[in-house]
Amino acid sequence: MFLKNNSKIPLDKFINKVLYDKKKGYYMNNNPIGHKGDFITSPNISIMFSEMIAIWLVSFWEKIGYPKNINIIELGAGNGEMMFQILKTIKKFNKFISSSNFIIYEKSSYLKKLQKNKIKFENIKWINNLKKISKFPSIFIANEFFDALPIKQFINKDNNWYEKYIINKDRSLQFFEKKIKTRLIEKLIKQKIPKNQKFIEYSPLANEKLSTISKIIKKHNGGLLIIDYGYNDKKMFDTLQSIKKHKKNIFLENIYKADITHLINFDFFKQKIRNLEIDSVNLTTQREFLLKMGILERAEIISKSMPFSRKADIYFRIKRLIDKKQMGTLFKVLFATNKKNNFNLGF
Ligand SMILES: C[S@@+](CC[C@H](N)C(=O)[O-])C[C@H]1O[C@@H](n2cnc3c(N)ncnc32)[C@H](O)[C@@H]1O
Repeated sequence: MFLKNNSKIPLDKFINKVLYDKKKGYYMNNNPIGHKGDFITSPNISIMFSEMIAIWLVSFWEKIGYPKNINIIELGAGNGEMMFQILKTIKKFNKFISSSNFIIYEKSSYLKKLQKNKIKFENIKWINNLKKISKFPSIFIANEFFDALPIKQFINKDNNWYEKYIINKDRSLQFFEKKIKTRLIEKLIKQKIPKNQKFIEYSPLANEKLSTISKIIKKHNGGLLIIDYGYNDKKMFDTLQSIKKHKKNIFLENIYKADITHLINFDFFKQKIRNLEIDSVNLTTQREFLLKMGILERAEIISKSMPFSRKADIYFRIKRLIDKKQMGTLFKVLFATNKKNNFNLGF
């Protein structure tokens, strides 16, 4: 049984166990990405997505003065597709390649193995601790990384706050709300709760990562590019969901066999990053970012001499990425850097 009878754990501990338990965890035994999996991500829809990221990386490196040593770190690389395509795209940028230390920060040893099999490149390493990267300018890229981190939820009812738990009651898993003092929540989220906020979704782990990364950027320069689904609103909503075979799954069913995820509150992320003294934080939609990076022009070039069916496939995939009714606006791109860099390509 997942939990001992009549015992309970907070939501974030529950998610952590379901997704990352060393033996049974969803991400620890399984490649969930792709048509045969449970969900698909942008790099696995079109290689042009990763090409745009690669060009963006080279441009940023140029803008900060072609540093001779730079870390390019991907957070949570899944099946390795994005890094694989980035390395392919930059093949001709010799100076950039020889200046870059490519790094993947990955928790799942199963996915790490897939990544290592796919990416045959000399200058790449895998790390478990972000604090151990060399002290060079560092560019972090995170596609659907933050949505895979565990969250806590707090609900306000009649002016009392409750934290969401999962309880095993009479051998069945159920949600449970446990009273919590306001000051304990405020201590955790490191800010006062606005009066009209009746619901809070918060990831302690995301916050820890933002803090570590911001310190590195502040000290050694660089930036953080987050691409993820989410919303930009002061108000917080309950966005917790479980996904299996590309469809919503009943949350407390298929434990270890379905993904658990949530939407990023980008307004909250922006505030947090600014509080960490990173003074340039930009946000746009995936649609705007990819259009400004020239994804349509790139598609035109590569599909010029292709037969109609292949051309159609290329545009069909791009449409998935940029259409307002598909991933175009729900997915957002956040870029945090030091103002002095004066870099805003794609925004
Ligand atoms: C939703 S997948 C996204 C994969 C990939 N970026 C893509 O777009 O296809 C989340 C990835 O983050 C990794 N991950 C989750 N939590 C992590 C953590 N705390 N540290 C490092 N990697 C983590 C997962 O193992 C997985 O590779």
